[in-house]
Amino acid sequence: MLSAASEVLNFSRRQVSHAVQTIRRPMRTVGLYLKIRRDVLPGLTRLANAEGDRLEFRLGRAHLLLLSAPADVHEVLVSQNRAFHKPAGPISFRRVLGDGLLTSEEEAWKRSRRLIQPAFHSEALLPLGAKMVEMTLRHMDAWQGGVEYDIVDEMTSLTFAVATEALFGFQDPVLSAEVRDSISTGMRYVSRRMYKVVRLPVWIPNRGTRAARRLTRAIGQIMAERERRGGSSSDLLSLITRAGEAAGDGFTAEELQDQALTLLLAGHETTASALGWIWHLLAHHPEVRARLEDEIETKLGRTLPSPESLRALPYLDAVVQEALRLYPPVWGLTRQAVEPFLLGSRTFAAGTRVGILPWIIHRKGAFFAEPDVFNPDRWLDGSAAELPRHAYIPFGAGPRTCVGRSFALMEMRLIIATVTQRYRMQAVPGHTVVAEPLVTLRARHGVRVVLEPRAFVAGPSDGGESIRPEIPSPLRAGCPFHEGSERGPS
Ligand code: HEM
Repeated sequence: MLSAASEVLNFSRRQVSHAVQTIRRPMRTVGLYLKIRRDVLPGLTRLANAEGDRLEFRLGRAHLLLLSAPADVHEVLVSQNRAFHKPAGPISFRRVLGDGLLTSEEEAWKRSRRLIQPAFHSEALLPLGAKMVEMTLRHMDAWQGGVEYDIVDEMTSLTFAVATEALFGFQDPVLSAEVRDSISTGMRYVSRRMYKVVRLPVWIPNRGTRAARRLTRAIGQIMAERERRGGSSSDLLSLITRAGEAAGDGFTAEELQDQALTLLLAGHETTASALGWIWHLLAHHPEVRARLEDEIETKLGRTLPSPESLRALPYLDAVVQEALRLYPPVWGLTRQAVEPFLLGSRTFAAGTRVGILPWIIHRKGAFFAEPDVFNPDRWLDGSAAELPRHAYIPFGAGPRTCVGRSFALMEMRLIIATVTQRYRMQAVPGHTVVAEPLVTLRARHGVRVVLEPRAFVAGPSDGGESIRPEIPSPLRAGCPFHEGSERGPS
């Protein structure tokens, strides 16, 4: 299989761009749209497989291009990126996120990126590693072996707590609950609206706008509380503020609040989605899970994971990469042309909407042997080095690539290693998991698992005894992050 993989993967970038077929069928019917809408991911995959890497739709005056060739990804996200803006989306995210990094354009975006990016460099993030592990341990304190959980819900509350703590340096249980609740109401509203053919204008008050107002108010209160506490020197907002002061161009209080909300929103949903899929895959691939457990036991022994020790866990890294390939949380990226652009020999007009589909690109047999198979080894056998550029884009590409990539990769690996030292996820028989392309890639009925406590097998230096890992006692004390919030099994 592996030699077949390297043969298939042995494309040069030039060959790949030649392999792209342009489909020119300007009149796509509403019927086709409705058909895909019922069954989005399989529908789009079938369409791309049957008709090619550029699908062109016209719906009324709207002109939509769906792209799934790495060479086209390069054109849109990298070489002609200035010709595109992010579209407002199914609800105007900009109304909620202001001029935050995710939604701003041109000079405002450049300034935001310049001031925010240094806080997300790998070295700057190292001190957060211990907090991520600590919060995972605290979260697990409420878990019970043998009980069934929706692990996506569990991961969402954990990554929300991590993001809040990392950004603000503290947790306020009441305000955090208000923020989480308004985010989940808002996300549900946006997700439903995404697939509606007829949409009411966003300025008409609705559940989404009410949730957005609650969210803005709660974030404002958290910012005021942070100000009152004097901030902490190591939280991300402090690092961002210091970068602004050093550049003589810091964010105003209002701008900083928009950025905080942006980072909180962008920084926990995606990571929770990825972790949910990882646990789902591990529960259904006991042979992969056994190798992962073995690596963690052999390399970490009794020690808790840390950003430094992650370097000794290449199989864990491969598991994460492979899960992000099969289930990219950002399953589609969207752009709108603000000036004409060129793909191959064809010029497309300003106003064209473009969708780039990692879901389809990541599952192409031309790039990945047995593309639907969960095979972390493909990231360890050297074949990944042969991938065409942009055949793997879970974090996007070009100047607007994910600013939180290192944060997310560190967080996911620390959470998986910490949980794996204590629990094994068993799939719940009869529970079917279906991928649903909402704002992020979600599992339609969640990912239900039963937690099996693990007898920790010590590494060679521990003499091979069967023991439970030692957790520093202060971490077992009452949980300040979940004060007053009881999280029982679902
Ligand atoms: C597994 C987790 C994550 C995935 C898969 C992911 C994926 C992505 C992708 C694909 C983009 C590009 C979107 C586009 O070009 O339209 C993006 C942008 C972004 N991400 Fe992430 N992300 C993750 C975690 C995070 C985290 C932890 C943070 C922050 C704490 C974050 C903050 C952002 C921001 C602010 C942007 C906009 C960057 C810009 O436009 O300059 N993300 N992310």
